[in-house]
Amino acid sequence: MKILFVTSEVFPLIKTGGLGDVAYALPAALSAKGEDVRVIVPAYPQVLDLVYSRAAGHEHDKNSGLSIGDPFGVGEVHLFESVLPDTNVPVILVDCPALYARPGNPYTQHNGEDWPDNDLRFALLAWAAAKCATRGNITGWFPDVVHANDWQAGLTAAYLHYWSGHADRPKMIFTIHNIQFQGLFDPSVLPKIGLPKEAFAIDGLEYYGQVSYLKAGIFYSDVVTTVSPTYAKEILTPEYGMGMEGLLQKRSKNLKGLINGIDHKLWSSETDPWLEHPYGRKKLSPKQLNKAHIQRELHLPEDKDALLFSMVTRLTEQKGVDLLIEILPQLIEMNAQVAILGTGDEEMEKTLRTLSDTHENIAVRIGYFEALAHQIIAGSDVFLMPSRFEPCGLTQMYALRYGTLPLVRQSGGLADTVIDLDQNDEGTGFVFEAVDSGALLQAVQRAMDLFQDKKAWKKAQRRAMAMDFGWESASNAYKTLYSELVDDYSD
Ligand code: ADP
Ligand code: GLC
Repeated sequence: MKILFVTSEVFPLIKTGGLGDVAYALPAALSAKGEDVRVIVPAYPQVLDLVYSRAAGHEHDKNSGLSIGDPFGVGEVHLFESVLPDTNVPVILVDCPALYARPGNPYTQHNGEDWPDNDLRFALLAWAAAKCATRGNITGWFPDVVHANDWQAGLTAAYLHYWSGHADRPKMIFTIHNIQFQGLFDPSVLPKIGLPKEAFAIDGLEYYGQVSYLKAGIFYSDVVTTVSPTYAKEILTPEYGMGMEGLLQKRSKNLKGLINGIDHKLWSSETDPWLEHPYGRKKLSPKQLNKAHIQRELHLPEDKDALLFSMVTRLTEQKGVDLLIEILPQLIEMNAQVAILGTGDEEMEKTLRTLSDTHENIAVRIGYFEALAHQIIAGSDVFLMPSRFEPCGLTQMYALRYGTLPLVRQSGGLADTVIDLDQNDEGTGFVFEAVDSGALLQAVQRAMDLFQDKKAWKKAQRRAMAMDFGWESASNAYKTLYSELVDDYSD
């Protein structure tokens, strides 16, 4: 089966969150199973740097790519092909310096605001992907399935809908990783990006007077998936659907929740190159050394008896960081420690910095640091995810694998991957329900209590570490879905 995977980020070339991890590990797992999968992503400067620094002696020469024209009048677009590091997965880089040659975050400027031309930037990603998925296209490779992800790739389905007859186009899957981001723009963008006026309709990509790239993905694709079974149900409700629930209800026969996996090669406490002291289920004791290491590194008191809570996250309301901030004074009174690595909302960053400056038991690092993320997840005792909503969440699965018990709100993928220790003697973590700092504090108290019972704690850690959320099995659900789709719809 030939699959084109369309994404705005892919680890390790460019990553801001879980989409980057999924866009690397799912294609890699499918390719290991013999599928012919290719990833297409914008050629941001960091991507080009990484690709060309690995291919020593090869300079990036923008004229050496495959020209696919100048569709939006901002400059010629070239395609380059490389390979995702440590895999056999080809990656197609869409190069258009006028739109992508900017350092930093792929979505936002330094001041945190969106790039003003994101409408063109991500229409171009979709346009280029659709070009590669049109029969007789210049790459000479025609996919059976196009798998587009999140609003940044949402227009792929719209282009294919308008360019090719139904029988003549590949099958289209659209995955919602986060329904909060909807790619909303002024309708005046449509002629600029080459989509017809009639697309601007309720049965199209119109959304309350604006154009929504997310809605395009949902509306024009054959199947819509999201990243956990619970989130697939939640987004049918007004509480979680963020305005898209009506359309999703209409499409509910073709909406599926497939749980993400994790990459066991990159996230294994036994082989993690970022850890000085590898450990595993059968040899847990070196985890303590990782705890001591991270306490020293973050200037926390080196104390093995203090329960170390951690968070590695985008700092946003979604993640419930504000709920944690509310209960930090109580946590300190309990002599617990808290380590937070994150970046995002400026106010939250400021508040957290101040708290860490004034409390020796609170350590905060603002920024995006891959190695530190691994070391914090390995070195802490409990991993916090009090998320208001969580489509899947990968970090709680990393934490489970590292014997760091997750403390999570019962929502989305968190509800599907963490088993509460009180409700079930197979428990792997602490689960609470209400979006409320009091409920969070109660769960924290339960963790503090269990921490006193070293034997029970170790048992829970071993159960957590035995959970298998690897893509080796999780990718089978996608494989089946692709096959069903191609079989069902072929003549
Ligand atoms: P989301 O995609 O909503 O941000 P996920 O749990 O799915 O949440 O994935 C987050 C990914 O981003 C994980 O790989 C996590 O380790 C990583 N991450 C988040 N914040 C940081 C940070 N500040 N530094 C390093 N890695 C981070
Ligand atoms: C989104 C979601 C997160 C999910 C990730 C990968 O960023 O917020 O829950 O794990 O996408 O699917």
